[in-house]
Amino acid sequence: MKPRVLSGIQPTGSLHIGNYLGALKNWVRMQHDYECVFCIVDLHAITVHQEPAELRRKIEQTAAIFLAAGIDPKISSVVVQSTVPAHAELAWLLTCATPLGWLERMTQFKDKAAKQESIGDGLLQYPVLMAADILLYKANAVPVGDDQSQHLELTRDIAQRFNALYGDTFVMPETKLPTVGARIMGLDDPSKKMSKSETGSNHAIGLLDEPSVIRKKVMRATTDSNPAVDFESMGAGVVNLLTIHQAFTGWTDDQMKQHFTGMRYGDLKKTVAE
Ligand code: TYM
Repeated sequence: MKPRVLSGIQPTGSLHIGNYLGALKNWVRMQHDYECVFCIVDLHAITVHQEPAELRRKIEQTAAIFLAAGIDPKISSVVVQSTVPAHAELAWLLTCATPLGWLERMTQFKDKAAKQESIGDGLLQYPVLMAADILLYKANAVPVGDDQSQHLELTRDIAQRFNALYGDTFVMPETKLPTVGARIMGLDDPSKKMSKSETGSNHAIGLLDEPSVIRKKVMRATTDSNPAVDFESMGAGVVNLLTIHQAFTGWTDDQMKQHFTGMRYGDLKKTVAE
């Protein structure tokens, strides 16, 4: 039997190249070696308010993007989380085995909570539901971007605690990060992770953006005060553009250095945009 993969994406905002390079691209590659379940996590999406009709539309759009990216429904399962009640049921069982302090320490919770006046309980429970998604399917591997690493550590802690309390029940899932592209940064501000919820028009490259829009966004991307690429001293914006290029092309570090050393930023951006 093949080992199993479970991963998920929230059907909110507009999917961007961070989602593709951090997660989707690996999913497409792994589906031949693993038995895969890819989940559209609408129950996670409603931890912040969603318009029901818009959420339904986004669920369909997310499924279409999975297929367009190369997920093959003949060999992989695509599941809408809310259609399988066991996700929410297991989340409750896990909630009862999870100390509150573990959840309050989650950096994503702290970041999101800091932005809101009143915090819904769902925001705190969010990683327990994510643990339920993974543990329910006894997943061996979870391909995600770097921002989910802490949630995966928590998943293993919860599984270990549950197993210790009630006997061997859950499989320990392994985090699978891409070697390049685990954390794509915003084009406008390379100190911030590229995010679906960020509203700046030049922040993210959407998977559904027109080629002309993508070109414009890349040409406006923040770089640094150097005129050209210097691998010894690069600002975060230049590192980000080079990472995007390397993640899409699969070039080695040596190929990257040979091609880009000394290249002026205008030409670097043109190359990345193509
Ligand atoms: P979500 O919807 O925020 O993101 C989906 C996937 O995209 C990755 N990602 C990124 N990778 C690189 N650079 C970025 N800037 C970037 N932004 C996002 C994320 O790491 C993720 O892999 N909680 C999860 C969804 C989830 C899940 C799960 C994932 C729910 N249950 C079970 C795995 C297993 C989330 O909000 O992802």
